[in-house]
Parts: sequence; structure tokens; C-alpha cells
Amino acid sequence: MKELKLETSVEVYAIEELDETYKRLYETAFEASKKAYAPYSNFHVGAAVLLENGEILSGNNQENAAYPSGLCAERTTLFYAGAHYPDTAVRVLAIAGMKDGERVDLITPCGACRQVMLETEQRYDKPMKVLLCGKEEAFLVPSATALLPFCFGKSDLIKPEEKE
Ligand code: THU
Repeated sequence: MKELKLETSVEVYAIEELDETYKRLYETAFEASKKAYAPYSNFHVGAAVLLENGEILSGNNQENAAYPSGLCAERTTLFYAGAHYPDTAVRVLAIAGMKDGERVDLITPCGACRQVMLETEQRYDKPMKVLLCGKEEAFLVPSATALLPFCFGKSDLIKPEEKE
């Protein structure tokens, strides 16, 4: 028997410690959460992505009376980025949540969103940092892979020699 240890290192910043770019992403994600359509959960989530070309895009959760038809903020935003900038890597994804009009202490993405984050990272073959925006602190995860260790991804379906 062998033991395999999976470790993730996360940097925790006080908000005032964030550099200008991360601070902008932090604010953009919270701003985007205000436009979420979340009448059922009243949990408003915003996401902001920094593209390789320097552009910042944002999105939010979109709920539906038929619950599973709704979509989280992270996937709304990543699919929007992929639809409009298919050839541009996503370097950072920031996520922020508001409950009853208050910033939540910390938001951590659901499993389905982690899978989509992983796909984005593997699609462009560049790490995508994930900034989890809390009320007083922000957690910086170095990559989507770090949020989904032991994952199923592109290489399980496409062998390296078959990649374009
Ligand atoms: N939600 C997100 O948009 N992102 C997350 O990281 C967690 C959950 C949304 C989905 C649903 O609209 C609401 O929050 C409650 O689960």
C-alpha cells in the first residue's frame, strides 16, 4: 500500500493587501453580484475574469423556477468569456457572494463550477488563479487544478499526441 497526499496551498490576503489588479477584480465581482438573478435562493454571486489581453469581464448567477435550469456565476462568466474570446486565456477568476445584502465571509465554488474552471485552464494550457472574495479576506488559489485534485479532465479523453 502507498499513500498519496494531495495538498493545496492557498494565500490569504487582507483586502487592503491585495494589489491593484486583484482589488479591481474583487470589486468587480461584488459589483456583478448586485445584478444576479437569484429570487429563489436570495444568494447573489458575482464573478469577474481577467483575460490574458487585460480585459475584465463579469457575470452572476441566473436562477430559474425549474431549479436545475439555473446557472452559477462562475459558469455564466466563464462561458461568456469562452463565447466571446475563444482564443484568449483566462488568467484569474474572482468570485464574490452576497446574502441578504451582506458580503459573505467566504465563498467556495461548487463541484460543477470547479470542473468548468478546470476545463478553462486545460483549454488554454495556462494556470487560472482563483480569487475567493470574502468580507475581510480574499483567498488566492494558484490554479483551477488545485481546487479539483484527482480530477477527470481533457487528458483522459485526448492523448497528448492528438492535441492540436
Ligand atoms: N452559486 C453560485 O453562483 N456560485 C457558487 O459558487 C455557489 C452557488 C449560486 C447558485 C444558486 O443560484 C445560488 O448560488 C444558491 O446555491
